[in-house]
Amino acid sequence: MKKNKTVLFVTATVLAFLFILGAAYAQDDITLLKHDAFIERERPAAVFPHSLHADEAGIDCLECHHIYDEAGENIWDDSSESECAECHKVEAEGKVLPLMKAFHANCKGCHEKENKGPLTCGECHPK
Ligand code: HEC
Ligand code: HEC
Ligand code: HEC
Ligand code: HEC
Repeated sequence: MKKNKTVLFVTATVLAFLFILGAAYAQDDITLLKHDAFIERERPAAVFPHSLHADEAGIDCLECHHIYDEAGENIWDDSSESECAECHKVEAEGKVLPLMKAFHANCKGCHEKENKGPLTCGECHPK
């Protein structure tokens, strides 16, 4: 009997912990992108379900995230910088795409190629 209670308690604790973890994870999940770098916005925030892409659709992180080394190799890992605006500025700098183009090229480029996901302004930037 005593042993059963301990097991029950441990199970309840583990479940509570997983629940909190799950809630924290869900809260962290990105659903909208609205970059502060665009000071006078022309469009509403863009819809972007991160976990739908990374988890459910199983797209490789490196399809979207990158840090290129000198040899042009993508050496990004999940401890690396993930903010696109760290490198892609609102105004173009050298041959690095400006921020809006970097997003549009990445998002629309893949949706076109895969023939999946939205392609019109209003679908990505709904009012
Ligand atoms: C379809 C494109 C795409 C894929 C696939 C993707 N990401 Fe992201 N990720 C983004 C974008 C866009 C942002 C937001 C960047 C920004 O705001 O500048 C982001 C943000 C992040 C962030 C920081 C934001 C936060 O607060 O959570 C982390 C960490 C991250 N991604 C990890 C990953 C990992 C790990 C994978 C692979 C399992 C992955 N991403 C797959 C596009 C993607
Ligand atoms: C650490 C800096 C850095 C970060 C962070 C970064 N980029 Fe880039 N990105 C670059 C550089 C540098 C290039 C140019 C590579 C070249 O032309 O050789 C590039 C190129 C691109 C290109 C052109 C195609 C390609 O892959 O080469 C797209 C699209 C792009 N970035 C989108 C994004 C998006 C979207 C994010 C955020 C999820 C992001 N970048 C984050 C530095 C960065
Ligand atoms: C490497 C490929 C790839 C990239 C990059 C990508 N997407 Fe997608 N996107 C997909 C695919 C595949 C789907 C369809 C997923 C599904 O319905 O299972 C999708 C679906 C979507 C949807 C519809 C979600 C829904 O609820 O049906 C939105 C919105 C979206 N993408 C926004 C974005 C934005 C914004 C970006 C850039 C930050 C982006 N995507 C980058 C492949 C990509
Ligand atoms: C596949 C999704 C997608 C499509 C389609 C798309 N955008 Fe975007 N757009 C984004 C993302 C992601 C950003 C960067 C996040 C943000 O808005 O802060 C962005 C940023 C912008 C910005 C810079 C921020 C601002 O509001 O000033 C403008 C302007 C813009 N888009 C206009 C358009 C127009 C016009 C179209 C149609 C021709 C369009 N977009 C289609 C995803 C998309």
